[in-house]
Amino acid sequence: MLNKNNFELRKEAKELMHRMTLDEKIGMIHGAELFRTAPVERLGIPALTMSDGPMGVRQEFEPANWKSVGNHDDYVTYLPCNSALAATWNRKLARLTGEVLGAEARGRGKDVILGPGVNIKRSPLCGRNFEYFSEDPFLTKEMAVPYIIGVQNWDVAACVKHFAANNQETQRLWVDVKIDEKALREIYLPAFYDAVQKGNAYTVMGAYNKIYGEHCCQSEFLLNQILRKEWGYEGVVISDWGGVHDTEAAVNSGLDIEMSVTDNFDEYYMAEPLKKRIEKGEISEKVIDEKVIDILVLMKRLHMLDGERKSGTYNTPEHRQAALDVARESVVLLKNSKEKLPLSPEKTKELLVIGENADLMHALGGGSAEIKALYEITPLMGIKMLLGGNTKVTYVKGYCQDLKEENKDKNWQADSLENGGGEMESVNRADEALTRYRRLLREEAVMKAREFDQVIFIGGLNHEQDCEGNDRADMKLPYEQDLLIEELLEANPDTVIVMVGGSPVEMGRWIDRANSVIWSWYAGMEGGRALAEVLFGRTNPSGKLPESFYKTHMDCSAHAWGNFGEKETADYAEGVFVGYRYLEAYHVEPEFCFGHGLSYTSFVYESAELIKENGKAYVECQIANTGKMDGKETIQIYLGPKERTVDLPVRQLKGFEKVFLKSGEKKKLRIEIEGYSENMDVWAGSSLNELKMCAEKKGEP
Ligand code: BGC
Repeated sequence: MLNKNNFELRKEAKELMHRMTLDEKIGMIHGAELFRTAPVERLGIPALTMSDGPMGVRQEFEPANWKSVGNHDDYVTYLPCNSALAATWNRKLARLTGEVLGAEARGRGKDVILGPGVNIKRSPLCGRNFEYFSEDPFLTKEMAVPYIIGVQNWDVAACVKHFAANNQETQRLWVDVKIDEKALREIYLPAFYDAVQKGNAYTVMGAYNKIYGEHCCQSEFLLNQILRKEWGYEGVVISDWGGVHDTEAAVNSGLDIEMSVTDNFDEYYMAEPLKKRIEKGEISEKVIDEKVIDILVLMKRLHMLDGERKSGTYNTPEHRQAALDVARESVVLLKNSKEKLPLSPEKTKELLVIGENADLMHALGGGSAEIKALYEITPLMGIKMLLGGNTKVTYVKGYCQDLKEENKDKNWQADSLENGGGEMESVNRADEALTRYRRLLREEAVMKAREFDQVIFIGGLNHEQDCEGNDRADMKLPYEQDLLIEELLEANPDTVIVMVGGSPVEMGRWIDRANSVIWSWYAGMEGGRALAEVLFGRTNPSGKLPESFYKTHMDCSAHAWGNFGEKETADYAEGVFVGYRYLEAYHVEPEFCFGHGLSYTSFVYESAELIKENGKAYVECQIANTGKMDGKETIQIYLGPKERTVDLPVRQLKGFEKVFLKSGEKKKLRIEIEGYSENMDVWAGSSLNELKMCAEKKGEP
């Protein structure tokens, strides 16, 4: 499966492996440093060097200590998070993201980049959702595959993670996922399947959680039966850091490399303890040989052994441009009911910007996805850069996050194996002094909002909530922002509301009164510029939600039906009814539906017909830009059973295409549909709520 000459590569790798001692082999299959295995210098085999993560190449740590090296040579391009990327619905941008990440990883001397994260957003509360693409398996895989191809184009391995059903941080090391196999295969596995089959991902990372009672990183069922046997995967499987719990199970499971967060490298399960078991004859050395062969093949694929390797580079102007291109298309215009947006830069002589997120940098937060960014343009800076010196921009904070004592010498990851490695925490931890301080900030902001014609509020979440090792307790906005927004809209009804975050928040207290609402993600180093361009009409927004924006988390099936939280078992009782699949089938109204996103122009679907040709099915769609601005639209195709039984979703995303249309332009597109059969209806449209059923095209072929 690993391309044409895999057989040859395995043969060569086998010969090399036969020249190795047991110690040398064992050195290759476990961490000898936090992000590196041991080299075999005698035979010219280098160490395998890894780095996080999905949004850029992580800073350098000391080899055996979670202390930053502290040099100034490891700043990098900070790319929009995977949720932002998914909101572009643009496969070319996914490829571009992969290319940048691959080039930068190589440029920084890495062999494996620990991403993309392709876990499904089962609940809006999961702290790592910003690292993941979507609640939908089709959208996830369509974005993940080009991303992986882009990374690996640079002689760097992608590491698709976390395999599998790793959908919460609470009790992340121990939680046992109870799920029916149909849901596992239809919702949680497809992105992994395509990542290895179509993306040819050279490495896969196991997950921390258990599934059917077995830890995923040593799961016979997941790694041997599904990944290795069923899918024929011959790449390298790496454990999550500290995800292995037993020597024998790990060695026999199809896992190749054990990594962890602690510095007792020789005591790792696949280090000395394994050596002893082999020497006693309890475990066969042959099992290790297979692992070493996998790793050597990987090294050959990456040209680590032949000196013909791409060198990569980092922090180029092109990479920063790519970050901007993605950020531009990721912004989602949720609401523009009075068409107050875009604002006019020329007419804006005075502007009031409110909100901590206007002036907050997010790059160096979130857990292992943190980025030491070369720079980060905040929304406030982006707005000021765009408007220039003739507009007076006034900024007030309006709210603030909890004031926490920082312990700069401590890295959370060092202790991350304690307490089950994950918790659920309530976001509002205000004490009296803080409440008073927030009231002052609020009063100042509201008073000022009355004085200004033009007000933009920029709030939402930050990496206190969207963070590894932590789930939210609910979807409520933290730091009393609801109250502030209510009062701002009262003081100045035209206040533009911008939310920044990696997962949705409750908006019910103010959404009906807000005319203009924008969703912006952790959108990388150029995120603030991209947001400003959308606010002031330099970019026509084209982002679409890659997930349902629920009214409250109880409208999500994982909470309404299943469980999620501080229990030993996560019961996925909702089965395949994840995200919009649940909302549609059980008539639950979201605040904003899956696929939703407005534009400053208007698109008309003039026709949408089903075409069957040579065993494949397509939707042929004529679409016109009838508005005044050039813009991009994503045509979404859904399939659903003609005769629905209760165990089937109403419809599911099975195709999409993004298209650019000049004002007044029309285009005809042909979009392939995955998995069509005669007993299905086909819909096309601009979001789940605006679909047209497609009749079959008759007559001409
Ligand atoms: C995370 C992984 C990450 C690894 C290395 C773990 O805690 O779950 O996603 O790649 O650490 O930093």
